[in-house]
Amino acid sequence: MNGERYAIVLAAGKGTRMKSSLHKVLHPIGGKPMVEHIFSTLEQVGVNQIYLVVGHDADAVVERVGGRAIPVLQGEQLGTAHAVLQTESFLREKEGITLVINGDTPLVTAETMKGLLSRHQETGAAATLLTTKLDRPTGYGRILYDEMGNVAKIVEEKEATPAEKMIQEVNVGLYTFHTKFLFDAVKKIGNKNQQGEYYLTDIFPILQEMGQKISAYRTENQQETISINDRIALSEAERILRKRINETHMKEGVTLQDPERTYIDADVRIGRDTVILAGTHLRGNTRIGEGCIIGPDVEITDSIIGDEVTISHSVLIESRVEEKTTIGPFAYLRPNSKIGKKVKIGDFVEIKNSSVGDGAKVPHLTYVGDAEIGARVNMSCGSITVNYDGVHKHKTVVEEDAFIGCNVNLVAPVTVGKGAFIAAGSTITDPVPPGALAVARQRQVNKENYVAKLMAKKKGE
Ligand code: UD1
Ligand code: CA
Repeated sequence: MNGERYAIVLAAGKGTRMKSSLHKVLHPIGGKPMVEHIFSTLEQVGVNQIYLVVGHDADAVVERVGGRAIPVLQGEQLGTAHAVLQTESFLREKEGITLVINGDTPLVTAETMKGLLSRHQETGAAATLLTTKLDRPTGYGRILYDEMGNVAKIVEEKEATPAEKMIQEVNVGLYTFHTKFLFDAVKKIGNKNQQGEYYLTDIFPILQEMGQKISAYRTENQQETISINDRIALSEAERILRKRINETHMKEGVTLQDPERTYIDADVRIGRDTVILAGTHLRGNTRIGEGCIIGPDVEITDSIIGDEVTISHSVLIESRVEEKTTIGPFAYLRPNSKIGKKVKIGDFVEIKNSSVGDGAKVPHLTYVGDAEIGARVNMSCGSITVNYDGVHKHKTVVEEDAFIGCNVNLVAPVTVGKGAFIAAGSTITDPVPPGALAVARQRQVNKENYVAKLMAKKKGE
């Protein structure tokens, strides 16, 4: 990083067009609040400090994303120039460059930001702004150049004449300023316009009058310049980001069967030669190993999956699965499930807050809750842990190599010893010693010829 560099992220506006009780910059794209994407990009580019200007729903915004920036309150939202002015006491004495970015423009890439900064340095300008050419520029500020080819001013949509509205080159809402000149110039901005607002975009002619040079940096990548004002733009941004994320994974050696139907959050990591089948959602801080087959129709949230794991038609939340295990179809792993190596978790199995040891099998129709299932245990069809007595949750321990027969109830708290065998249909309420056979059900009674006798009796009536 050359010299000092600061960033101001503007996020005080109401975002009326979102029609939401959630602040605009907190609406997630790629699984996290849009403003966090801006923070990540700024951090990647390298800044000494980020200032986040907040106003509407300031508390909610600061609580959710405030950790990475110094919040600065703009009590009344009088416009983008007024928003920048609120940071004066923090930045007035600083050297170097200050980046200003609108909080609703989350897709600008680090590459473009770096390009903008280099242009700013090369040209020795006091301000450099990012522009792009749009087929439909409606709503954006238009860029006007003078005869020398320098930026003369920006005209906002509401102020633009019909001829100016034809201009396709627009202001993206990302600027670099020489910190030294920023506040003196911002203070000269007035609010005599259609909106009665202090427009930051009016700073350019003022800087020129101060004898400073303005330069522009144009990106050809229109997709990164989208500003999210409503839910239609939000879905568009989501689509653009999804494509970007998916392509990054494919370039790193992950196969996506159908990228348009694969939903991967921004912070997910996936190992090489893993195949993601259609309808899969990978969320939050999920990590997937190498050589896995995930999908179709799998949802994994905040989980860690080892190498060569196969998961189909299943939902996993805050869980860990080790290598060479297969999950599904139709399994549900709830928080804090820890599944070992070479385990089989089959259809209609729910696991919650439990560990399942290496090589164990839970093939079908089983509930395992608050349990420790040892290595190589077999939980047969329909076996369940009875972990809840209506008031408290209790723990079940099944030691290694035990065999739990079909339709067994393990009434917790209870322990089944190493290598023990539980007969099908048993309801186990007492500890089972290692190596024992436990049968806990009524013995079968056969009444010979009972049916014939009953019929004869009926006829006689
Ligand atoms: C702004 C630009 C416009 C540009 C467009 C790009 C101005 C005057 N116009 O328009 O040239 O083409 O972005 O998307 O800057 N904000 C505050 N305090 C305020 C007002 C706004 O913090 O008092 C914040 C908003 O929360 C938002 C950002 O500044 O994140 C931009 O404001 P917005 O009202 O969305 O500006 P645009 O009309 O989109
Ligand atoms: Ca906007």
